[in-house]
Amino acid sequence: MSDAVIIDGKAFAADLRAEVGRKAALLKASHGLVPGLSVVLVGDDPASHVYVRNKGKATVAAGMDSQEYRLPATASHAEVLETVERLNADDSVHGILVQLPLPDQVDSNAIINAIDPDKDVDGFHTVNVGRLTTGQDSLVPCTPLGCLLMLRHFVGELKGKRAMIVGRSNIVGKPMASLLLREHCTVTVGHSRTQDLPGECRRADVLIAAVGRAEMIRGDWVKPGAAVIDVGINRVPAGEKTRLVGDVCFEEAVENAGWITPVPGGVGPMTIACLLKNTLTAACRRHAIEEPA
Ligand code: GUN
Repeated sequence: MSDAVIIDGKAFAADLRAEVGRKAALLKASHGLVPGLSVVLVGDDPASHVYVRNKGKATVAAGMDSQEYRLPATASHAEVLETVERLNADDSVHGILVQLPLPDQVDSNAIINAIDPDKDVDGFHTVNVGRLTTGQDSLVPCTPLGCLLMLRHFVGELKGKRAMIVGRSNIVGKPMASLLLREHCTVTVGHSRTQDLPGECRRADVLIAAVGRAEMIRGDWVKPGAAVIDVGINRVPAGEKTRLVGDVCFEEAVENAGWITPVPGGVGPMTIACLLKNTLTAACRRHAIEEPA
């Protein structure tokens, strides 16, 4: 029998969304300020359309303004850039998110770095990456921020713990490493060339899986009592249908873990909640207002 706490990311994210909504209402009452998020969507990738629609709904539900800018898949780099520059100049827009991936003719790095860093609610701008790694106030990428909030809430003190992050992406692995270093963890980042990945994982008190490989991390890679945060979302065949699994083999890992996030219903719901949180933070900073408690 497993003693692991199965972290309910859906409930935790709903609480965070409600908290952001409460703070947005306070801001409106005290300063007449309504945080605004603009999402730029280029092309017609169905999954991106679903994500963007969900982001818009959650933004409105939290009492904030939501705008969507759609460009065709044939849009030029200059057209996307022009959209971003218009949003940079618009004082009613506090957060800008350009949905990735962008079509090949658009230079994604240049577009991300064209966003005003103080409106970059994804935290992907080079300036925000630099601020995060040097310990300055920054906007922090939503998925790793969600992981950190769950760890702080469920595990508590992280100081001195050994953290292992599997995956070195700019969106999750690297910012997660910066965040956990800031929490005074001892951080290791593993990847496809790491020697003895299972052995490295087995030493970890906090194990973050963000590689994008279905059920790669097995139960015996998990130290007894460790916190396991599974960022992976992989669709795999299941008979006639498909199902979603993480980067961790849940059924095995739950036997060893002290805490574990399921897929779906773990990290996933936290990403949008953190996007709302970042939008509120960006609006407060823009107007030099202290964030409501
Ligand atoms: N596409 C998939 N995930 C993300 C994300 O976190 N931000 C943006 N902008 N695009 C994405």
